[in-house]
Amino acid sequence: MVDLIEIKEGKARILVPKTEWKKGPNSAKVPVFYNPTMEMNRDVSVALLKAVRRKEMKVLDGLAASGIRGIRFALEIGEMEITLNDRNKKALKLMEKNADLNRVDVKITGKNLNTLLSDSSFDYIDIDPFGSPAEFLDCASRAIRNGGILAITATDTAALCGVYPKVCYRRYMAWPEHNWCMHEIGLRILIGSAVRIGGRNDISLKPLLAYSTDHYFRAYLMAEKGARKADAVLENVGMLEFDDISWKNGGDIGPMWLGALFDEMVLSRMKTEDFFGSKRRMEKFMDIWKEEWKMPPCYHELSYLSSFLHISQPPIRHVIERLKSMGFEATRTHCSPTGIKTDASAEEVLETMRE
Ligand SMILES: C[S@@+](CC[C@H](N)C(=O)[O-])C[C@H]1O[C@@H](n2cnc3c(N)ncnc32)[C@H](O)[C@@H]1O
Repeated sequence: MVDLIEIKEGKARILVPKTEWKKGPNSAKVPVFYNPTMEMNRDVSVALLKAVRRKEMKVLDGLAASGIRGIRFALEIGEMEITLNDRNKKALKLMEKNADLNRVDVKITGKNLNTLLSDSSFDYIDIDPFGSPAEFLDCASRAIRNGGILAITATDTAALCGVYPKVCYRRYMAWPEHNWCMHEIGLRILIGSAVRIGGRNDISLKPLLAYSTDHYFRAYLMAEKGARKADAVLENVGMLEFDDISWKNGGDIGPMWLGALFDEMVLSRMKTEDFFGSKRRMEKFMDIWKEEWKMPPCYHELSYLSSFLHISQPPIRHVIERLKSMGFEATRTHCSPTGIKTDASAEEVLETMRE
């Protein structure tokens, strides 16, 4: 085993390879992977799983690496049957050490994730891969139990955001768009792809919480079995079009998820904890998620609209206040500090900016 150092995250003490772990995406060329930038990703998963926890849940950390996420679930939520899986033998050894170090009772397996998902079922499946989760979505949608949650991370944002449209089409069977809204569109393409894969297995997958930040997208999808439920949820998958300033249905961007990215009830039940390293940052995100949960897909970007009008950019709060005073819904979006979600048309937003 390579030299190890101990790090602390949440309530866990975790041994990870001694190397320089930098911010943002980290190289996969390490004996066992760990990324400190993903702390908020893991904090959110603890808060969400705690908010939806039921009795006797069977939980899988499918690509566990050091085991950090599943071990945190055991320490910070407890009372669940937790399995940590990774096909990397060095990761298996490290997970065992980390489980002992934290005195948690977890199962550890070293299977190819798709093999494990083909002969077991779970109430919560976490898939946090290098790059794309696409290769796991079919087996995962069949292995998730009725009422269970499929949690997926995607770090192949260049494909999903339209830098490599053909790669996006190959992995997700959808055409992306490369403009300021690309993160929301990429996130919606990821969800739309999971929803369509679930559909062919007669499973409805619906977002409880889905967001974009740092170098990744993350979606928590609730599974319900049944052909009618799958038909109903597929009604929310469609195409969008962008014409100079506004988003319209139809067109050639997608297919993507066009429904809500958040479930209000789940958001209201999620709590940050004092031991979360990302507590303050996560609270800022949660404030915006609670505002934007019922808003339509995509948003207007103030910097773009300002250059379109050849004016200097007005403060976002002024535009939101004006739109609200005109009777429209208007909120911020977590995808951009200068983005506005609203049911007003682009022309109506331009009007408020001209004033
Ligand atoms: C990005 S890392 C996981 C990071 C971890 N979830 C965390 O929070 O630190 C991806 C892991 O997936 C494992 N892996 C990749 N493909 C796999 C497969 N098909 N089956 C099982 N494990 C796999 C790799 O060995 C690697 O440890």
